[in-house]
Amino acid sequence: PNRLIIAPSLLAADFARLGEETRAVEAAGADWLHLDIMDGHFVPNITFGPLVVKALRKHTAMPMDVHLMIAPVDPYIAAFAEAGADNISVHPESGPHLHRTLQLIRSLGKKAGVVLNPATPVDAIAHVMDLIDIIMVMTVNPGFGGQAFIASQLSKIATLRQMIDDTGRDIILQIDGGITPATAPKVLEAGADCLIAGTAVFGAPDYAQAISALRAARPR
Ligand code: DX5
Ligand code: ZN
Repeated sequence: PNRLIIAPSLLAADFARLGEETRAVEAAGADWLHLDIMDGHFVPNITFGPLVVKALRKHTAMPMDVHLMIAPVDPYIAAFAEAGADNISVHPESGPHLHRTLQLIRSLGKKAGVVLNPATPVDAIAHVMDLIDIIMVMTVNPGFGGQAFIASQLSKIATLRQMIDDTGRDIILQIDGGITPATAPKVLEAGADCLIAGTAVFGAPDYAQAISALRAARPR
């Protein structure tokens, strides 16, 4: 891994001020903006869609890291690509043909990601590694911010680090859910490249200090 990527999740931001919140975390030193798309069907919560992603595109130069928690997912990939997403990540459970979905994302010129739920085995991606640019490990069940970190995922993170290293490619390993200055060192030790954090950033009084605290978790 090269540098540590910090990706604040807008899920914990003030939804009445999304443009300002986006600019604020960029000014505070964030690397990527993480956008959680929920449909009330694949996960038990509803957030926002491509129109909001498109509106936010004008407010930031940060790569937009779009996490799709919707099913079926294929019919909406093009809309998120056109809205300005840079990375599009999908759950293997959100469509019948993960290989086809990843091909679709790549065909639109976007980085293709796969998200593993806490109960989803690493085997789900073993045969599509060549189509993957990003792997996201959920350390909470998807749907809500502010949940407790599920420590049983640490061994999965370490396994995925090895799988990535075996490819010799620069696949980014992201961790999503319950990331704080207390849990970050554990996932970094297990081999993560990118920390996604909602509550730990947007719930803090000082975003720059919150981002620095996550960055400081990296062993030198
Ligand atoms: C949950 C989302 C996460 C969420 C994390 O479904 O994928 O991105 O925002 O929130 P925290 O950091 O509060 O656990
Ligand atoms: Zn997410």
